Amino acid sequence: MLKTNQLKAFYGDFQALFGIDFEIGQSETVAIIGSNGAGKSTFLKSICGLIKSPNESVSLEKTPIGELPAQERVRLGISLVPEGRKLFRSLSVEENLRIGGFAKREGYWNLTRVYELFPALIEKKHSPATSLSGGQQQMVAIGRAMLSNPKLLLCDEISLGLSPLVVKDIYNALPKICAEGLSVVLVEQDIDAALKASNRYYCFMHGKVSLSGESSLAKRRDISAAYFGITEESA
Ligand SMILES: Nc1ncnc2c1ncn2[C@@H]1O[C@H](COP(=O)(O)OP(=O)(O)OP(=O)(O)O)[C@@H](O)[C@H]1O
Ligand SMILES: [Mg+2]
Repeated sequence: MLKTNQLKAFYGDFQALFGIDFEIGQSETVAIIGSNGAGKSTFLKSICGLIKSPNESVSLEKTPIGELPAQERVRLGISLVPEGRKLFRSLSVEENLRIGGFAKREGYWNLTRVYELFPALIEKKHSPATSLSGGQQQMVAIGRAMLSNPKLLLCDEISLGLSPLVVKDIYNALPKICAEGLSVVLVEQDIDAALKASNRYYCFMHGKVSLSGESSLAKRRDISAAYFGITEESA
C-alpha cells in the first residue's frame, strides 16, 4: 500500500536517513523502533510530507508522492499523530478534533465514533485541551487524525510520558481502528508495546534499517543488537 524506495532525508547538510526501504500493506500494523535520534520521526515526516524527497522514493498505492506537500497527502489518506501531540492549547477538545475533519474525506470516522472510541473525551468536549491529562490529550491527537479518515495512520511515540495503564487504554483502541481496514505505522521506544501491537517491525539505527521481520518472531537479543548496536562481544 505504501512503499519507500531508498528514502533519504536531510536537514540542511545533515543527513538523517540513508536509503530506507520500507513497505506496509492494507490493514497491517508495522512498528518502527529505535533509540533517540535513530531517524524514526524523520521517517514519518518524510511519509506525510513535512519533509519532501524525490518523488519516486515514497509511493502510495504505486503512485509516487515524495514531492507532494503535506496537505495533499492528507487528502490522499495519510495522517500523522505527531510526537508531543501538538494540540491547539487555546481550543476546546471538540474544536481540536474538528480540525482533523478539514480534509473532508468520506469514511467511517466522525465525531460520534471518535467519542465512542474514547469515551473519556465526552465530558471534556468543551474543556480546553490543556485541562486534559496526558493520556486524554493523546486520545484527542489520535481522534483528530482519525477524523480525516486516513488509509494510513502514522503514530509518533503515542505512549511517551504516559503511565502503563493509560498506554494500555490507548493501545486497546488500535484493533478498533484497524478493523476499518486502516494501516498503521507505530513509532515507539517501548519495544514490548510496539512488538505486541504490530504484525511486523523495522528497527532503525543511525538512519538505516538495522533489522526487520515479523513481530511475533522477534528475538530479544537480536533486537538489542539492532537497537543499541550492542553485540555479545561488545557487551
Ligand atoms: N529539525 C532538525 N534539524 C536538524 N537536525 C534534526 C532535526 N530534527 C532531527 N534532527 C536530527 O536528525 C536525526 C534523526 O532525528 P529524529 O528526530 O528523526 O530521531 P528519532 O528516532 O525520532 O528520535 P527520538 O526517539 O528522540 O524522537 C537526529 O540526529 C536529530 O538530531
Ligand atoms: Mg522522534
